[in-house]
Amino acid sequence: MRIVLVGPPGAGKGTQAALLAERLAIPHISTGDLFRANISQGTELGRKVESILREGGLVPDEITVAMAADRLAQPDAGDGFLLDGFPRNISQAKALDGMLVEAGHKLDAVLDLEVPEDEVVKRIAGRRTCRKDSSHAFHSTYRPPLKDGVCDVCDGELYQREDDREDTVRKRLSVYHQETEPIIDYYRAQGLVSTIPALAPVSEVTQRALDALPERAA
Ligand code: AP5
Repeated sequence: MRIVLVGPPGAGKGTQAALLAERLAIPHISTGDLFRANISQGTELGRKVESILREGGLVPDEITVAMAADRLAQPDAGDGFLLDGFPRNISQAKALDGMLVEAGHKLDAVLDLEVPEDEVVKRIAGRRTCRKDSSHAFHSTYRPPLKDGVCDVCDGELYQREDDREDTVRKRLSVYHQETEPIIDYYRAQGLVSTIPALAPVSEVTQRALDALPERAA
């Protein structure tokens, strides 16, 4: 199954993507996680994008699309994937269409996680992310780690992402409304969008997402 997950910063995309990907046995591909891994490994790509992420802007399309295309071409994504954070504007959505056409594939679903803005702000304020693997996210109230400051999954140190500062979160939300929200209508016109009310416990949101998929793989 080929799925795109959309939603504002802090909506729970990464949290749900990890659970859905495991349940559906498809890879979770997060452009944000890929950028953060490059930054922590000090690669040339990481050095190019570090300040953009810190300030909450969008990485230029040519960099992002090339990185996504490279990841989608890997063998584990041949039979399906769950994209989290890509595409993030209309031009990236069109680039993804091109990649899929070339590979003879099509998207099965676009899941739009709907969360009120005040909740998103609370979720981001309490988020603690693992330094070793940014797909491991915790929350000081909603999902506290077993041991303070330590990742339950891999023992990595938990920290607050630099782009989770209040002023940067405001900028990311504004970028989301201006650049990313239009892709929901773009995909709605193709009959692909399901809106998932995501102000609910994590497991309930996962079930709503599974129920919204065209065919259940679980
Ligand atoms: P990215 O990493 O994609 O950030 P984002 O879209 O802003 O999303 P977040 O990671 O902030 O939140 P999330 O929705 O995954 O929420 P989470 O599950 O962690 O991108 C970062 C940056 O990279 C961008 O700003 C940009 O610079 C760059 N970038 C990435 N992709 C790009 C692209 N395609 N083009 C250009 N630039 C790009 O949950 C948040 C918190 O809430 C956690 O603490 C979690 O435990 C908690 N939580 C989750 N669900 C629930 C629930 N149901 N109830 C209570 N708490 C919950």
